[in-house]
Amino acid sequence: MKWLWVFSAAQAVMWGQSAREAVRQGEQIFAKSCATGYCHGARGGPGGAPRLAGRGFTQPFIAATVARGVSGTAMPSFAGTLSRSDLAAVVAYVSTLNGIANPAVAANVGGAESNAGPALSANAAKGRQLFSDAVRGFGRCSTCHEVNGLGISVATPIAEIPANAQALRSLATPHVLTSIIGGEQMPSLPVSSTNRGVVFYDLTSSPPVLRTADQGSVTSKEGSPWSHSSAIGSYNDAELDAILEYLRAASVP
Ligand code: HEC
Repeated sequence: MKWLWVFSAAQAVMWGQSAREAVRQGEQIFAKSCATGYCHGARGGPGGAPRLAGRGFTQPFIAATVARGVSGTAMPSFAGTLSRSDLAAVVAYVSTLNGIANPAVAANVGGAESNAGPALSANAAKGRQLFSDAVRGFGRCSTCHEVNGLGISVATPIAEIPANAQALRSLATPHVLTSIIGGEQMPSLPVSSTNRGVVFYDLTSSPPVLRTADQGSVTSKEGSPWSHSSAIGSYNDAELDAILEYLRAASVP
C-alpha cells in the first residue's frame, strides 16, 4: 500500500514548514513527468489526458492514482519511477490545483480558482456552490461539466438548460453509446476517432476515465443503459433547481 504512504507524506509536506518548497518541487516534477504534451496539460490544464486542475480530487485519490496508475489507460504507475519525496511533492502540487492547500501555498503556485462570472441571486450562488460541492464526491456536476472555468468538460458544454429538476433527471443522453472492447461492455462518450485510434470517456465509473483504443479493437453501438439520473443522485430537487438557476444566470453573455 505504497500510495497510502505517499498520501501521508504529501499531507505532512503540505502541513509542514517546507510546504512551499515541496509544491515548487512538485511543480517541476509535474512539468517533466506529467505535462509532456501527450499527457496532462501544463498547470493541470487540458491535454491528451484528463485535466487535473479544479476537479475536486481528494489527496488520497491523487496519491493512489499517481502511485498505482489507472489500468486500461495510458496512465502508468509512478511508484517505481519516482522517488518517495518526488511522489509526495507531485501529489502536493496536484492537490494545490484542486484547492487542497494552505492559502500561502495556493497563492504561491497561482492555484486559486477564478471567480469570473455574472452577479448571482442568492439561490443561484447556492447553485454555483452545489455544482462543484466537494461533499458529493464525484457525484457533483463539475466532475463532468465545465461552466465558467469550474469543472471539467467530459460532456460537451451545456447548451440547453432543462426547465426543472425532473427534466434534468430524465434528460435524454443521445451521445452516450455502448462500446465493447475485448468482450467488455461499457457506456461511452466518444471524444475522437482517427486512424491513430479511438478516444472516448468510459462512463462506468465516476470520474469517467478517458480511454484510447486501436481502431478495430473497439466496436460501438447506439444507446446505453447509462442514465443521467444515475450521475446526479446525490442532489435533491431543491438543490437541482438551485443549480439550474445558476446555469441560467451563467449562460447569460
Ligand atoms: C458522471 C458524469 C456526469 C455528471 C456527474 C453530471 N452529468 Fe450532466 N451530462 C453528462 C453527460 C455524459 C451528458 C451528455 C449526454 C449526451 O449528450 O448524450 C450530460 C448532459 C447534461 C445536460 C444537457 C446539456 C445539453 O445541452 O443537452 C445538462 C443540462 C446537464 N448534463 C446538467 C448536469 C448537472 C446540473 C449536473 C449536476 C447536478 C450534471 N449534469 C452531472 C454527464 C454527467
